[in-house]
Amino acid sequence: MLAGRRVVLGVSGGVAAYKAAYLARRLTERGADVRVVTTESAREFIGDQTFAAITGHPVIGHLFGASTSVSPHTELGRWADVIVVAPATAATLARLAQGLSEDALTATVLASRAPLVVAPAMHTEMWEHPATRRNVERLERDGVVVVPPGEGPLAGGDVGVGRMAEPEEIVAAVERTIGEGPLQGVSVLVTAGGTREPIDPVRFLGNRSSGKMGHAIAEEALRRGADVTLVTTSALPSSPGLTRIQVETAAEMEQAVERTDPDVAILAAAVADFRPVTAAPEKIARTAEAPRIELEPTPDILAGVVARRPRPLVVGFAAETGSLERAVRKAKTKGVDLLVANDVTEEGAGFAVDTNRVTIIWPDGRTDPWPLMPKSAVAARLLDLVEELLDRESGSGRVSSPAEDLERPGDGR
Ligand code: CTP
Repeated sequence: MLAGRRVVLGVSGGVAAYKAAYLARRLTERGADVRVVTTESAREFIGDQTFAAITGHPVIGHLFGASTSVSPHTELGRWADVIVVAPATAATLARLAQGLSEDALTATVLASRAPLVVAPAMHTEMWEHPATRRNVERLERDGVVVVPPGEGPLAGGDVGVGRMAEPEEIVAAVERTIGEGPLQGVSVLVTAGGTREPIDPVRFLGNRSSGKMGHAIAEEALRRGADVTLVTTSALPSSPGLTRIQVETAAEMEQAVERTDPDVAILAAAVADFRPVTAAPEKIARTAEAPRIELEPTPDILAGVVARRPRPLVVGFAAETGSLERAVRKAKTKGVDLLVANDVTEEGAGFAVDTNRVTIIWPDGRTDPWPLMPKSAVAARLLDLVEELLDRESGSGRVSSPAEDLERPGDGR
């Protein structure tokens, strides 16, 4: 499967370009997030609208002007987990072999560290020409995966070698190339967003959490091959490859969390600590005297997860205003494996923005402040840490053997 994997599909100009539409469909069916980049001659064979409709994203065809991005090739190149060029014409193969970057497709390839898969398609004479042979050999030497063309009908009624490999074959090559992610076989639960505790059918007690951080973590875990369950209050979109449970209140979130049995629990949600004891069945009307709303504590979801035996690896979050002292205390006492703290009053680090400045706090009180980064980068670095912790503990077999009852440094409750 390619759930959550980011695939750039480069289409160059040959009659096989129509098959690239099937390829885009097969890739999305496998769960991949696909972005298409085309050459000018590809657009003679197939319209951008076709790819946009299949992938749900606009096609990139130009380095300058048309795109909303100032640097579409570097953005796309960095975004990609893998780049597939299909069909790859003789001219595109030659450009790739030379490292030329004069169009959006070749510039994206050059601006990327992602593995490259090419599926050549051309007439037999062109495929067998010494120049093409040389280019293919050079690409293979550079580590490019070449899915060789098959034999069959070619453009203009010709028959021979040069027909682009079938989309299924190319998908299989892509799956082999990016392989299993580092979190393959690991189940990850992520909670996200702020809970809403009803006062009456119209009003609620809530908080400013947008769910962006939690969603970014869920997407990154999916990209790394994990089996992801996202319990969220947020309306933000998520990839079809993960299991999403939509909730609103702390009680609903607790129930959803209870139904999961993850190896890793990342509790990024901002759960209300108190809720109205009863929600009025009808809208509370304006009266001379303001109503009194009695509150009661909500269930502590994190405490429930930490108390499980066997217990998953637990990452807690703490949104603070001001000093991190309270967060350090939480890291020491809540029984988490690590705590991600942020000061939500700091610019660029709070709710509803795309960046975050967090401090990682370990159960022994050690702190590791990270610089201001996009939330996607925070998610990636956090999952690097989770992978390290899982690796360290795979020796002790916690994740693979559910029978043990662990004593861990954070279990100081
Ligand atoms: N959390 C939870 N259930 C709650 C409240 C919080 O699972 N009812 C989780 C959050 O998802 C977060 C962590 O606990 O991962 C810390 O949340 P926070 O609100 O900072 O902690 P509290 O213990 O509620 O501390 P405070 O007194 O600061 O509210």
